[in-house]
Order: sequence, then C-alpha cells, then structure tokens
Amino acid sequence: MERLGLGPDVAQFEKDFAAFCGAQHCLAMNSGTSALHIALRLLEIGPGDEVITTPYTFIATTWAILYTGAKPVYVDIEPDTFNLDPKLLEKAITPKTKAVLPVHLYGHPFDVDAIAATCKKHQLPLIEDACQAHGATYKGKTVGTLGAMSCFSFYPAKNLGAIGEGGAFVTNDAAFAARAKSLREHGSTVRYHHDEVGYNYRMEGIQGAVLGVKLKQLQKWTDARRRVAKRYAESLAGTPLRLPREAAGCESAWHLYTVRSDRRDELKKFLDANGIGNAVHYPLPLHLQKAVASLGHKAGDFPVAEQASREVLSLPMFPELTDAQVQRVAVVVKEFFRK
Ligand SMILES: Cc1ncc(COP(=O)(O)O)c(C=O)c1O
Repeated sequence: MERLGLGPDVAQFEKDFAAFCGAQHCLAMNSGTSALHIALRLLEIGPGDEVITTPYTFIATTWAILYTGAKPVYVDIEPDTFNLDPKLLEKAITPKTKAVLPVHLYGHPFDVDAIAATCKKHQLPLIEDACQAHGATYKGKTVGTLGAMSCFSFYPAKNLGAIGEGGAFVTNDAAFAARAKSLREHGSTVRYHHDEVGYNYRMEGIQGAVLGVKLKQLQKWTDARRRVAKRYAESLAGTPLRLPREAAGCESAWHLYTVRSDRRDELKKFLDANGIGNAVHYPLPLHLQKAVASLGHKAGDFPVAEQASREVLSLPMFPELTDAQVQRVAVVVKEFFRK
C-alpha cells in the first residue's frame, strides 16, 4: 500500500522538484486544481472573500476560487503576453480582496515585479498559477518561488507530464507546507486523527516514479522548446501573423506557441485541411462561461481577453518538433496568406 499512494518515489520527486524550482518545499498532489484549492484553503479564503485573477486561462484557476466559496474578481490581460495586466490590478482591489492569483499563461511569466509590488502595497499574498510554466524564468529565477506559493500541473499534456493526473504545491514557507501536507491527506498527520476538513489529494506512487524519471529530462526539453520557438519566429517573420515574444527579463517555458490573426477561423480550417495540428486556447474567456453566469458579467467587460479569444491559434509545439516540421508549418501558413 505504501507505494501506491504517495510513498518513497513521490517523496523523492518532491525533493527533486523543489530543487528544480529553487524552493524549500514541494507537496505532490493529484492535480494542479487540487494544489490551487489547497493554496486558497491555507489563506483561510472562503465565502465573502474576493480573489483577483485572470479571465483568460484554463477554468481550473477559477474553480479553485469557487470551491472555497470566494468570488473570482477578473482583471483584463495584456495583449502581448496574455497575462493579467498589472496596470489594472490596483483598481480591482477592495476590502474583501484576500489574494491575487495570476497565471503564467502558455509558459510565459506574468509581470512579477509589477504585480508583486501592488500585492506588497496592499499586503495581499501572491499565488502563482504555474500549471503551464515548469522551468520558465523571470529575471533569472525559476517561476514557482516568486510569490507566497505556487501550483503546478502534471497533466500528461504539460511540459512535465505524468501518465495520468498530477500536480504540486510549492512554497518556501514551512508552516504552509506542513498544513498543505495534512490537507491533502484528509486533514490528518496522525492516521485516523483529523484536525480539520481535508481532502484525498494524494499523488499516486506510480506518478511520482514516472515524474522523477522525466524531471531529469525537463531542462533539455525546455531548451528544445526554446529552439522550436526561435525557428517559428524566423520562419513566420514577415507573415501577417502576430507572433508571441518574450518580455524583457522573461524566458518562457513555451508550453504553447500561440499566434494571433484576425483571420483565425479561416486559418484554422486551412491548417486542419493540410494536416497541421492546431488548437484554440481559449475560445471563450472565463467571465463569459455559463458556469460563472452568477457573477453577472457581459461581453465587453474584458475586451482584451475577448479579442484574444477571437484571434489566438496554437501551432504544434513539443520538444521533438524538427526544423523541417516547423518549415512545413510555415509553408502552409504562407500559402494561406497568399490565397
Ligand atoms: C493554467 C492552469 N491552471 C490550472 C490547471 C489545472 O491543472 P490540472 O488539470 O492538473 O488540475 C491547468 C491545467 O489543466 C492550467 O493550464
């Protein structure tokens, strides 16, 4: 039983992943969503509280806030990085705000210094949703240690993927780590004694074993993604596409290579017809999702996110993509724009 849930492989992976991030503590979980939920529980966030976040991400970031009973308060994004716009942050803060939860979307770090400065001014904890950004760096530091705590996903499609579900909570705070360890295991540190309402958020032993092996390759894979991004930038230069670029001081983990075009839907069809994999991340911003209709948002509330949802298209991105394959994508894209 010992090895099936948590166990020695998971414990070793936790040590190794903490070291990879340059953090003191890592607690392995069964998903990134669980790690986000735990992060908010640690801050005693609940009904009546507000958490500031981005409307442009995978919905799990918002789920974690809703699971606690708190209200997600959205702040629009920057058009270049797709990340929460620090210039709009302060206006969204109210006496009910209890935390700020931005996302390093597509693997590109959010503007940490600007967001952290506003958090500090208002004494608000900063939680990093680093679920797409394993190994991204901001001013030379690996993301995951830039706020009070951070959350990672090891969903199979992520830059570091398990062979099932997985996630991690990372922090430098020993008290947070100790309580997160208990919360993921039914609120218990002594078997069959439960100090508070907890969860079964344990990582399976097999996932820890696989992730431990794959982690050794992560830097090499991240470097390969960077090479692919560079090749795309070279071969798509001069096309009408708006290409992703790294902001000063940032190294993206290039989880996705997401371009923008006002002819996105036509381009998507053309790539589909030519056998080029592609996807829209994300077609509907969170404030317009049915699941959060009770928040009362309407189209036009977050125009930058809404425009992004109409224009974005992710091109194939994985470490093994060859230069010839990147060239092929570029040839098809250029053919589309010649039509
Ligand atoms: C930005 C972001 N946050 C949270 C999550 C949730 O992670 P998981 O699927 O492991 O629960 C994901 C990935 O799915 C994600 O991309």
